[in-house]
Amino acid sequence: MTALSLTVTRVQALTPQVKLFRFEAATPLPLFSGGAHIVVEMPDGDVLRRNSYSLISDPHDPSGYEIAVRLDPQGRGGSRFLHEKVREGDRLRVSMPANLFAIDPRAKRHLLIAGGIGITPFLAQIRQLDRLNLDWALHYAAPSRKEAAALGLLPRSSRISLHFSDEGNRMDLATLLDGQPAGTHVFCCGPEGLITAVEATAARLGWPQSHLHSEAFAAPPPGAAFSVTLGRSGRTLTVGPHQSLLEAIEAADVPIDWSCRGGACGRCETAVRACHGRILHHDHWLSEDERAAQTKIMPCMSRFLGEDLTLDL
Ligand code: FES
Repeated sequence: MTALSLTVTRVQALTPQVKLFRFEAATPLPLFSGGAHIVVEMPDGDVLRRNSYSLISDPHDPSGYEIAVRLDPQGRGGSRFLHEKVREGDRLRVSMPANLFAIDPRAKRHLLIAGGIGITPFLAQIRQLDRLNLDWALHYAAPSRKEAAALGLLPRSSRISLHFSDEGNRMDLATLLDGQPAGTHVFCCGPEGLITAVEATAARLGWPQSHLHSEAFAAPPPGAAFSVTLGRSGRTLTVGPHQSLLEAIEAADVPIDWSCRGGACGRCETAVRACHGRILHHDHWLSEDERAAQTKIMPCMSRFLGEDLTLDL
């Protein structure tokens, strides 16, 4: 990846589970657009992890990049590394910003729906929307105020509605999506269940598919170790329980394309030459038919259970 070597200048607990990390350089950083993410390299012993995180800082502020990371104790170790090992003054390599969740300037209104840590891309988006003088409304749901990581980072605005389950004001998607002005685009980021519910409700209410946008990429899940054969060289690699297939391929110095590392961009799509077993697709890129056919795999997210998986690599 084209990497920037940046200094960690701030580590701040937003909630017991979420920390903010600020990165700066000696010279101004490239500007980005709301919804963009960076990939953070995490050298952890003999393992090099790369995870994607949405930028939460002002897209027009070149003085630093900020991300908010939720600790996932069951994850592969990326969030644990950042929470437990990274200190102010450390240097980390991060990718140039890329955006798979950009605002649509043609939309008459941006209806932003966030669940939990899914608030992160919207923190930058609302700054860009305000700068462009575009209409928006944000609905932010969390289990409680205490767990709402972005509460202190959001501006005071009548455009923002908060929904806390323990206060009994859950988001009512049907009411929210019904009666929006024509030309509204919905942007949703959060747990899989929220995104599925927004898509199902919007479909029931007749929203055009082109007006629905979601971002669901996440860190690759851990799982049982498995073997994979690279068909062009005949090499066999072992993918460890806390390693992604993409990381195993990279560790073997085999060239492979990637961008989001979270199953959303399609860049790592790889053809499968042989599959005797079951691919555990965790991506958001392949269609149901493509998943069932088992002729393609997204190495950034997917794992394998079975006898033989041979890739066209
Ligand atoms: S790198 Fe984006 S889908 Fe795999």
